[in-house]
Amino acid sequence: MLNFKMFLPVICLILILSPAISYADESAVPSKVVKVVKGKKYCTKGWECSTPSVYCCNLTISDYFQTYQFENLFSKRNSPVAHAVGFWDYESFIHAAALFQPLGFGTTGNKTAQMLELSAFLGHVGAKTSCGYGVATGGPLAWGLCYNKEMSPSSIYCDDYFKLTYPCAPGVSYHGRGALPLYWNYNYGPVGEGLKQDLLNHPEYIEQNATLAFQAAIYQWMKPQKKGLPSAHDAFVGNWKPNKNDTEAKRVPGFGTTMNLLYGDSVCGQGDIDSMNIIISHYLNYLDLLGIGREEAGPNEVLSCAEQKVFNPSYTPSTSS
Ligand SMILES: *[C@@H]1O[C@H](CO)[C@@H](O)[C@H](O)[C@H]1NC(C)=O
Ligand SMILES: *[C@@H]1O[C@H](CO)[C@@H](O)[C@H](O)[C@H]1NC(C)=O
Ligand SMILES: *[C@@H]1O[C@H](CO)[C@@H](O)[C@H](O)[C@H]1NC(C)=O
Ligand SMILES: *[C@@H]1O[C@H](CO)[C@@H](O)[C@H](O)[C@H]1NC(C)=O
Repeated sequence: MLNFKMFLPVICLILILSPAISYADESAVPSKVVKVVKGKKYCTKGWECSTPSVYCCNLTISDYFQTYQFENLFSKRNSPVAHAVGFWDYESFIHAAALFQPLGFGTTGNKTAQMLELSAFLGHVGAKTSCGYGVATGGPLAWGLCYNKEMSPSSIYCDDYFKLTYPCAPGVSYHGRGALPLYWNYNYGPVGEGLKQDLLNHPEYIEQNATLAFQAAIYQWMKPQKKGLPSAHDAFVGNWKPNKNDTEAKRVPGFGTTMNLLYGDSVCGQGDIDSMNIIISHYLNYLDLLGIGREEAGPNEVLSCAEQKVFNPSYTPSTSS
């Protein structure tokens, strides 16, 4: 039979240890370091915001987007019929985002503005990596991050026009890979340079490392695809101010313009087409799932690019052997 005397040392031990445990927990939380330079506040906050930045004085992504929310958004990605089971996870996303949070990714404006940008970015990702179709269980919007690469590429996407700047490596294929799939040597090249990874010789790195796959996607969101154009991030958060031509072309800051910048005339300026609507649907669904609500997305002129003229009319590659 157990008696009280046997438990007494255990109880004492718990009493002794508990303050130590909570102290250890608190010291594990990174403390915010604030510097003021010329009246502007710059903060660092541990690994997620390790370079001093005005954006780091606000919430970081893991403050408002947690594992269960990632699981909610991408609920079918590890189902047996998905095509990248076990590849994508929350940790990889947050680690990838850490590189860009000091630049304003998911850290610009108040919490609502931050969650809108996160939903917009992930809406693109969900739509571009979905294997959902009308009758799929959970509905067509539950299948984001089902793929991490193009399954049966019909081409190696090597464009010889760029043989001096982004030469194709022998035996290598530049088919679609990643969270916002990259195609073509002329896209793997600059993204690799930006991330300091030799993607031109090793495009397969993207399908082997989820952190890198998310980084390549966020890079495309944060950097202008062409000189003189805004980045999708700048167009979304309102850093970009439309000029007269933009206004005539119905290009306004918001989600519609991010599609215009990322996909041009394959999605925009074609009226109310499926390839555009599926991206919008993912974004709106994620706003609902994150508790922001789709009404925060704004009016159709902002959300859609059906009537926009494209920034960058499509370019036809010179070879596609
Ligand atoms: C930080 O958040 C505040 C409101 O919560 C917002 O007004 C401010 O613009 C944000 N800072 C940056 C750099 O986005
Ligand atoms: C958050 O910022 C937006 C502008 O970006 C503003 O319209 C909205 O009212 C703000 N929300 C809160 C809760 O402060
Ligand atoms: C995956 O990529 C990230 C970011 O480039 C890198 O830090 C990490 O070491 C890579 N992981 C592996 C297993 O190579
Ligand atoms: C507006 O468009 C015209 C004609 O296409 C072009 O010549 C001009 O440079 C553009 N202006 C700006 C500010 O982009």
